[in-house]
Amino acid sequence: MASAPHPGFSPRPSTGGRHDLVVLANRLPVDHTVGADGRPSWRRSPGGLVTALHPIMKQRAAAWIGWHGRPGPAPAPFVHDGIHLHPLALTGDEVEGYYEGQANATIWPLYHDAVEQPAFDRAWQDHYRAVNRRFAEAAARAAAPGALVWVHDYHLQLVPGMLRQLRPDLRIGFFLHIPFPPVELFCRMPMRDEILHGLLGADLVGFQHAQGTRNFRALAAELLGAKTTDTAVWYEGREVTADTFPISIDFTGQQRLGIDPAVQARAAQIRRELGEPRTMILAVDRLDYTKGVECRLKAYRELLAEGRLDPAETALVQVAVPTRQEIGPYQALRERVECEVGRINGEHADIGRMPVHYLYQSFDQAELAALYLAADVMAVTPLRDGMNLVAKEYVATRTDGTGALVLSEFAGAAAELEQAWLVNPHDVDALKDAFVDAAFADPAEQRRRIEPMRSHLRRHDVDAWATGFLHRLEPAGADRTAAKVLRTADRWRAGSAGQHRGGVRAAERTVRPPQRHNVTG
Ligand code: G6P
Repeated sequence: MASAPHPGFSPRPSTGGRHDLVVLANRLPVDHTVGADGRPSWRRSPGGLVTALHPIMKQRAAAWIGWHGRPGPAPAPFVHDGIHLHPLALTGDEVEGYYEGQANATIWPLYHDAVEQPAFDRAWQDHYRAVNRRFAEAAARAAAPGALVWVHDYHLQLVPGMLRQLRPDLRIGFFLHIPFPPVELFCRMPMRDEILHGLLGADLVGFQHAQGTRNFRALAAELLGAKTTDTAVWYEGREVTADTFPISIDFTGQQRLGIDPAVQARAAQIRRELGEPRTMILAVDRLDYTKGVECRLKAYRELLAEGRLDPAETALVQVAVPTRQEIGPYQALRERVECEVGRINGEHADIGRMPVHYLYQSFDQAELAALYLAADVMAVTPLRDGMNLVAKEYVATRTDGTGALVLSEFAGAAAELEQAWLVNPHDVDALKDAFVDAAFADPAEQRRRIEPMRSHLRRHDVDAWATGFLHRLEPAGADRTAAKVLRTADRWRAGSAGQHRGGVRAAERTVRPPQRHNVTG
């Protein structure tokens, strides 16, 4: 089959820059804030990716290219916490076409095989190409000869191919944070060959789950006629490695929060404020239609109605983190969820007691950790999810080995956290049984399940993920070995050990601006 062109793309050679590591992601790893004195500043965003990459990037004076989160002109490049930030401007039309449209109304629902139908629009596709080209050109300018460039996620799938044309000397890696769909689903995409061609511009393409890796190889063979082996795709005379790299969390930092006295005190306070329920069930999601919030609420309502859970003794805390609020299906989902919460509380609440506590807000890591510690049952039941780091954070926070994780089979995390109560989130009866089993599991059963998950995460933390990927991307024989990078990461972590504790003191809730949130996935 014919290989795909890049319409309208004529590569201009670039002389390159001075960074030997360049990261590209849709968003910069900083949030714009205004201090008490009214002065604007930048603060490092919460989230696994920047935590993982920060020590390595600082050591190498690396660059991060991304959008600063608002339409209009971008600030000039600046250095923040040792990382060189290169903000890219998007016009209002590009925010609509590239970000809200092609990325989040076409690719996101298609790749998640979601309840929402993907929408296809040729003008969005043009914006997607134009913005990907801008990213590729910025990387070509920033990268030193032979540098490593690591491109992240579904917003930037054309970048590796475009960048290879501009700078064939670079080592280019791509990691997809969301699921990669099977052949029959992906083939609906109008830009399907072009996207595959873009991804195959990389030297290393990484996926969260082995199924995604298999889908990618099958598609490369079927649509582009590439030859494939277990970990390689041969395309246009080059070998592209395709493999599975499940992303993880800062296990040590999360565990530290779990044993912090201030976090533990806040957890006890949360339980008191809830009226000391026998069972507290917690769910923490970006309010996205992939997260299965409606199925979960339906299961909970039926359990209360049937008396299998007693509304006087049970509290469900549903944290729904605001996200993508300009996009129609997200607005509609919010209305449906809030209607269902109102229905459950209307039918089962009493004066001073509510079976659902619904919080449409963002929280800092310390408050989330307190919620994890307070919760008897953690409900992570997405219909589809690349990984789901909330499930991993819950397990890491529960240092005493208690707690019960109900986890969707369709979250990437299920491939690793196989001792959880695994459940099909589309099956309301199965969800109900899992919630009841988890709620009434004795401490020995909880420990039997959670301890192996904790030791798995201890070994497979976010450092291991980042260094593992970069090690595979490095040219063979390079002296920057993964071991060296790991040692730097360890030194940095030891030096910043106090950071979380400092944050914990402010365990009170903070409402973050809607665009940014610390719950990924
Ligand atoms: C998912 C994606 C990320 C994205 C995040 C938040 O985790 O994989 O790339 O940053 O959602 O979405 P947003 O649209 O606010 O960036």
